Amino acid sequence: MDITKLTNSGFFEHLTQNKPLLIKSFLDEKIFQNITPKYIHSLFATQKMSDEYYYFYNDTVKNLHESKDFLGTFLKASGDISILGQESTLIIRKVQDVIPEVNSLLTQFSQIIGYSLNSNLYLSTSSSTGFKMHHDPHYVFAVQLYGAKKWILHPPKVEYPQLRYSFNDVNLQELKDSDSISFTTEQGDMLLIPLGWPHKAATHADASVHITVGYDPIRWGSVLEKLMIVLGTELSILRAPIPLSINMNGVQEYGNNLDKDDVRLLLEMVRSYLSEKTLEKVSAELLR
Ligand SMILES: [Fe+2]
Repeated sequence: MDITKLTNSGFFEHLTQNKPLLIKSFLDEKIFQNITPKYIHSLFATQKMSDEYYYFYNDTVKNLHESKDFLGTFLKASGDISILGQESTLIIRKVQDVIPEVNSLLTQFSQIIGYSLNSNLYLSTSSSTGFKMHHDPHYVFAVQLYGAKKWILHPPKVEYPQLRYSFNDVNLQELKDSDSISFTTEQGDMLLIPLGWPHKAATHADASVHITVGYDPIRWGSVLEKLMIVLGTELSILRAPIPLSINMNGVQEYGNNLDKDDVRLLLEMVRSYLSEKTLEKVSAELLR
């Protein structure tokens, strides 16, 4: 992986601005030219891949059990992926454990991003559309290893979502075609799918192999949460009890049941309490 290419492509700017980006010829094709559908077949034929690693997906396979049956067919088929039928996708989770080249790519990505990352591999047959339109609660770097794929992306409906969400037939109408952006990834290309951007992909060639690298960022909310755990015991102003004179209404019961009024009340209480204290006092106590 050429890190200069990543820097010069505007990757970090797009990541920060949560905007999609296609980087052409991101990978040296020599490194990945061997990761063909036939090679993936050989992984199944020669390695003991535990069940947790893979599953199979198309419109007729409804559960994991059927998925394994399909895979049995694949194994017997001497690497001929046409046996999987059209519109099918084979998914290998944590593929870095299975393919060394992916492991080294992932290691480099992890060094750049600063977190350990995970990668999944998708082998799709022709006309496969894989997952329906959905958004992910993480950034996706999709790297095309074989064949080509067309991606359709929409600007986010939810800002920085924390849960995966699939769009059904009804709420698909919320996504305007005129807002969509499409990209085609060919061998060696990488597509940055920003956090929360609804997307789907289709295979137009005979087959496609791509990996996704998922980057699940640390959120400000969890930084605050962690900070409060420390500060709650470190700072006397946070250890101080709330006076009985403050009417807590329904706020005594903490948890996830706070409604908007509770939240408003809590914020107001905290604001008026903290505004009585000086920053100097807080920092003096912290740095003591
Ligand atoms: Fe996705």
